Amino acid sequence: MIRQSGIKSQKINMIDKVAVVTGANKGIGYGVVKELCRRGVKTVYLTARDIKRGTDAVASLKKEGYNPKFHQLEITDEESIKKFCEFIKQQHKGIDILINNAAVTQDNFNAPLYEDAKRVIDVNFHTIIRIEKFIFPLLNDNARVVNVSSDCGHLSKLKNKYWIERLSRKDLTLEDVEEFVNWFLDSVNNKTLKVEDFKWNILHAYVVSKIALCAYTWIQQRKIDRGISINALHPGFVTTSMTRNCGLLSVEEASDAPVYLALDADQSLKGKYIWFDKTEKDWYDVDIDIDYVDPDTFQDFVEKMSA
Ligand SMILES: NC(=O)c1ccc[n+]([C@@H]2O[C@H](COP(=O)([O-])OP(=O)(O)OC[C@H]3O[C@@H](n4cnc5c(N)ncnc54)[C@H](OP(=O)(O)O)[C@@H]3O)[C@@H](O)[C@H]2O)c1
Repeated sequence: MIRQSGIKSQKINMIDKVAVVTGANKGIGYGVVKELCRRGVKTVYLTARDIKRGTDAVASLKKEGYNPKFHQLEITDEESIKKFCEFIKQQHKGIDILINNAAVTQDNFNAPLYEDAKRVIDVNFHTIIRIEKFIFPLLNDNARVVNVSSDCGHLSKLKNKYWIERLSRKDLTLEDVEEFVNWFLDSVNNKTLKVEDFKWNILHAYVVSKIALCAYTWIQQRKIDRGISINALHPGFVTTSMTRNCGLLSVEEASDAPVYLALDADQSLKGKYIWFDKTEKDWYDVDIDIDYVDPDTFQDFVEKMSA
């Protein structure tokens, strides 16, 4: 099959795999579905919490000549996850590619209220535990899981020495990560949050949720067998609704790294923190300089998000 689609046009061989992307009705998830289809993955599920938004997204990809399938999936709702799993069990032998992409950011960019911080941490971190419980048993041998984190999820975004040390332990447990997020939530609730515990004075709930997601990725990789790989990814600074259309990459460009992890990376790449240029970054190196957005662009982003 040859598809003429601009710079990404190339000869495509069908890949007999089942892929699932969460939060794919727009943004990076939508771009990942499109790229997986373009690369020839036979069965790609574009999932979304809202049926209309999801089916509209599928219809728009169909107009471009792609053929993803749709299924509803609200990642905070256990019943929705269970229904999705029942459906997959009936239709397929299992799942080969799972892109955990769905996430939210803070309503208040600078200082979240407690309920908002809890929501961000629930959607961006706790859902991963629910997904692990119900969807991981459906993963085929040698399946690939990509947990879409962020540069905000790098350990260097934290300045609190106690938590840096504790989250760096090689025998890290879920209890450690839960205590970390609870430490943060308590500080928001009690209004005792110290800005100096963080590298930035913005987005603290999002930062904590994405650091927790990365830390839990290493735990998931340690626990899982059958050749399955689980990596965390920073997809880049991407123009989507989450960033109020600020960014340095288009959704199409940002789909390269997740699809590389899903299809092209060596199967031995496991439990790593991958950058949008497909290189590995040391998540534990808190002295690393990973700030790559120029100051003017960053300032523009901060102003738009704070407005
Ligand atoms: N854009 C960036 O610069 C950037 C940078 C670093 C990391 N990331 C990460 O990349 C991923 C995609 O972000 P994006 O920029 O593409 O954001 P986006 O455009 O806001 O898209 C987020 C997607 O997640 C869905 N979603 C949110 N909560 C959900 C839930 N409870 N259940 C199911 N779906 C849910 C949204 O659905 P609705 O449309 O229904 O709300 C939407 O489809 C996220 O993990 C984000 O943290 C983005």
